Amino acid sequence: MRSWRFVSTGSVADLSVIAVLFLFLLSSFSFTSTEAYDALDPNGNITIKWDVMSWTPDGYVAVVTMYNFQQYRHIQAPGWTLGWTWAKKEVIWSMMGGQTTEQGDCSRFKGNTPHCCKKDPTVVDLLPGTPYNQQIANCCKGGVINSWAQDPANAASSFQVSVGAAGTSNKTVKLPKNFTLKAPGPGYTCGPAKIVRPTKFVSGDKRRVTQALMTWNVTCTYSQFLAQKTPTCCVSLSSFYNDTIVNCPTCTCGCQNNTAGSGSCVDPDSPYLASVVSAPDKSGNSAPLVQCTSHMCPIRVHWHVKLNYKDYWRVKITITNFNYRMNYTLWNLVVQHPNFDNITKLFSFNYKSLSPYGDLNDTAMLWGVKFYNDLLNQAGPLGNVQSELLFQKDQNTFTFDKGWAFPRRVYFNGDNCVMPPPEAYPYLPNASSRPAISLLVTILISLALLLNFAQ
Ligand SMILES: *[C@@H]1O[C@H](CO)[C@@H](O)[C@H](O)[C@H]1NC(C)=O
Ligand SMILES: *[C@@H]1O[C@H](CO)[C@@H](O)[C@H](O)[C@H]1NC(C)=O
Ligand SMILES: *[C@@H]1O[C@H](CO)[C@@H](O)[C@H](O)[C@H]1NC(C)=O
Ligand SMILES: *[C@@H]1O[C@H](CO)[C@@H](O)[C@H](O)[C@H]1NC(C)=O
Ligand SMILES: *[C@@H]1O[C@H](CO)[C@@H](O)[C@H](O)[C@H]1NC(C)=O
Ligand SMILES: *[C@@H]1O[C@H](CO)[C@@H](O)[C@H](O)[C@H]1NC(C)=O
Ligand SMILES: *[C@@H]1O[C@H](CO)[C@@H](O)[C@H](O)[C@H]1NC(C)=O
Ligand SMILES: *[C@@H]1O[C@H](CO)[C@@H](O)[C@H](O)[C@H]1NC(C)=O
Ligand SMILES: *[C@@H]1O[C@H](CO)[C@@H](O)[C@H](O)[C@H]1NC(C)=O
Repeated sequence: MRSWRFVSTGSVADLSVIAVLFLFLLSSFSFTSTEAYDALDPNGNITIKWDVMSWTPDGYVAVVTMYNFQQYRHIQAPGWTLGWTWAKKEVIWSMMGGQTTEQGDCSRFKGNTPHCCKKDPTVVDLLPGTPYNQQIANCCKGGVINSWAQDPANAASSFQVSVGAAGTSNKTVKLPKNFTLKAPGPGYTCGPAKIVRPTKFVSGDKRRVTQALMTWNVTCTYSQFLAQKTPTCCVSLSSFYNDTIVNCPTCTCGCQNNTAGSGSCVDPDSPYLASVVSAPDKSGNSAPLVQCTSHMCPIRVHWHVKLNYKDYWRVKITITNFNYRMNYTLWNLVVQHPNFDNITKLFSFNYKSLSPYGDLNDTAMLWGVKFYNDLLNQAGPLGNVQSELLFQKDQNTFTFDKGWAFPRRVYFNGDNCVMPPPEAYPYLPNASSRPAISLLVTILISLALLLNFAQ
């Protein structure tokens, strides 16, 4: 009689590897099912709150605050751009801590001229160093907003608008529509404005509470799908137990020779390097100018399994910048690996555990230490940052077998980094073979990967 049982020789380690893969598979499913949804930050959003602080003869004065409730996605220079469409014929008489990019046609006004008469104004933050009489709290950072996990004190940005030709009571005000947020490129989708309970403000000495006359919120969510078509980051792997260095998949972010135009990448040995790099970008945008590599990504994250101790194991992470046109300030990395529940020590990076699935804390956010390595320099000899991580082994799950020691998912600045295919992972010499289990694991990995690529 033939037996179809094949798990009888499986150890606990095998089962937990399978369990981890199932979870990964599950998260891949949920990741692909909804567009604007990030499995590692399911509640992440940017909330824009309008607090009407006073009524004026022909409208109101509102303080608009953007809160970045995303754990690890920040808005970097050149900063946010916020747009909306007025419901009626509103104008902006004046602004503090921000400005519209265009005034529009104000010819119908005699005497006082409004700051902006456009039906669909576009607002940007003011730059640092703005005179004090044009500032308000949380303004004037050039549109840069930190992420909630990295720096909650700097995760908000505000400006004040004085709106005319508008309603002058909470019954007659019409909410602005069609909000658009660029950060600075596309990626965010904003919902409709909703009236919420008026914000309460507590005075500095906590002895008095005031409140807004009227408050509405707009929620914007990010989708990598909307943001860009090509990846910007890839992962390479190596280990002490195998000489193979698994490079980033070829052509992850582009191919060297299928682009017709010159200057799509720069050879680091080129004598023209300096002139190419310092030449102003003709197209006017901040398109990356990358060093020529097989993957052509601006960012590579390398995960090296460095050492094995009896109760611990050690990993070295190196982030390399291949972009000659970008210094990454406030960079961050999000890594998913089952052993993050037992990270013992981490050198020269900041660390925060993210728990997207309640008590399963297998996901960590890492970022630079202020004034030490919080700046990831442009491509070149200084264009990398490094850290080492020490994990305590859980003897029931720990193994160097089957690529377990490599990360499941890596994000740089909130963008997914493309991993090499699992069958290419460096593997243990003489790995004990349990074919049936390995086959199942391989099928699961491939399926998970397939789904992950489909995002
Ligand atoms: C936005 O994020 C905050 C903080 O995580 C959360 O409390 C709120 O429910 C989110 N809003 C929406 C509409 O998801
Ligand atoms: C408007 O204000 C009145 C009191 O001034 C309050 O009762 C009412 O709920 C407010 N309506 C809205 C939509 O905020
Ligand atoms: C909303 O804004 C977008 C972009 O600014 C524009 O294309 C669209 O027509 C607007 N929709 C409405 C209803 O105003
Ligand atoms: C509106 O936004 C504020 C600030 O982000 C938040 O505290 C409040 O909970 C939001 N209200 C709703 C109903 O989402
Ligand atoms: C691209 O160039 C590399 C080396 O420059 C070469 O190995 C590779 O075969 C080329 N690929 C194509 C598709 O031409
Ligand atoms: C990056 O910073 C260095 C010095 O900190 C500066 O020389 C260089 O021009 C900067 N590069 C870019 C692209 O801003
Ligand atoms: C992971 O979660 C467990 C239980 O919730 C907790 O005891 C442990 O300290 C957490 N580990 C880390 C590194 O946060
Ligand atoms: C960390 O590993 C030790 C040793 O295996 C184990 O006793 C402990 O429960 C682990 N902690 C967590 C949070 O998993
Ligand atoms: C190292 O891993 C690679 C797969 O990436 C494999 O082809 C090679 O045989 C392994 N080397 C040894 C010595 O096992």
